[in-house]
Amino acid sequence: MTFLSETLARVKPSPTIAVSTLAAELKAAGKDVIGLGAGEPDFNTPQNICDAAKAAIDAGKTKYTAPDGIVELKQAICDKLQRDNGLSYTTKQVSIGTGGKQILYNALMATLDPGDEVVIPAPYWVSYPDMVLLAGGEPVIASARAENAYKLTAEELEAAITPKTKWFIFNSPSNPTGAGYNREELKALTDVLMRHPHVRVMTDDMYEHLVYDGFEFVTPAQVEPGLYDRTLTCNGVSKAYAMTGWRIGYAAGPESLIGAMRKIQSQSTSNPCSISQWAAVEALNGTQDYIATNNEVFKRRRNMVVEMLNAAEGITCPTPEGAFYVYPSIAGCMGKTTPGGKLIETDEDFATALLEEKGVAVVFGGAFGLSPNFRVSYATSDENLEKACTRIQEFCAELS
Ligand SMILES: Cc1ncc(COP(=O)(O)O)c(C=O)c1O
Repeated sequence: MTFLSETLARVKPSPTIAVSTLAAELKAAGKDVIGLGAGEPDFNTPQNICDAAKAAIDAGKTKYTAPDGIVELKQAICDKLQRDNGLSYTTKQVSIGTGGKQILYNALMATLDPGDEVVIPAPYWVSYPDMVLLAGGEPVIASARAENAYKLTAEELEAAITPKTKWFIFNSPSNPTGAGYNREELKALTDVLMRHPHVRVMTDDMYEHLVYDGFEFVTPAQVEPGLYDRTLTCNGVSKAYAMTGWRIGYAAGPESLIGAMRKIQSQSTSNPCSISQWAAVEALNGTQDYIATNNEVFKRRRNMVVEMLNAAEGITCPTPEGAFYVYPSIAGCMGKTTPGGKLIETDEDFATALLEEKGVAVVFGGAFGLSPNFRVSYATSDENLEKACTRIQEFCAELS
């Protein structure tokens, strides 16, 4: 009998957190490193949200709350889902957790039995497959293609579904590619799901508000009302409101599932931080004006990064619709050798050599299930991005 569980042996630590940690360590050791690995906005949390948190402390709102959140925040979430997505939910259909991550995890823990399959499009957010494994299920990876801007087609989804499929996890705009599905592209997928009534959809709308060039965000239950009873709509305040450290995520869906998620949370972490919940009420009910202001900055950075990466030898970088990531292909760099003498056989080789030889930290595509690529987070200053992309151009030009 081993001390650590067999379940734990099935999962690996988050590679994105590993890259950020390594970059921070190298920086602390005095190395000139630019980190493009972090998945969080570099903006401060808006002042009105911070003020609401301070007011909550002063008002003594510092005690336990209901395990899955205060009714005021649940109501703010219902109002948001109606306002932004045209979806009607009652507060009984809403669960609030410690970040979007916990919400997704609770839902998988509440529903998966051994052998249950979860279809995950690749490239995927690193945590999906490992969360499924931790919950005892089996991730089934459905690979999207670069030619289709890393978006899954109806045929690719159809081919991944089996009688054992319990969930389809959908994420648009995507981490790591930034790809956003328009209404027509999403309808093609929801049409497939309508033909398979045993499959539920867990939609991760975390990057809903981070979209550019007039892109219209849509979510599955909005595009196909017939899926309402089979959809768990997940979202959070981390990215759009620059609140990653506050740890508030939420989901809306069928009452029975929400109740099951509450049961898990009540026996594990209990309520998310009371002060953060009051801050999130202000985030959702207060002014939304700064989202557009921040998006102008993100869009400018995206355009610069895409242009500079496409100018690098061997790199092809599509222009994504949203989030703050790009996912360039490095097929043209494979098989080459770096000035430091390293043969590039995988995208992990590329990322490691880029960090060691040029001091630029990116996350290799293998971590997201589709290679050969790397992910750049452009949620950092223009100056850092320009310097980093120049170094990437030099790195590629020096390959032989
Ligand atoms: C696609 C996606 N979903 C969920 C999360 C988790 O968000 P939170 O920080 O609220 O747990 C992230 C964070 O990186 C993400 O990229």
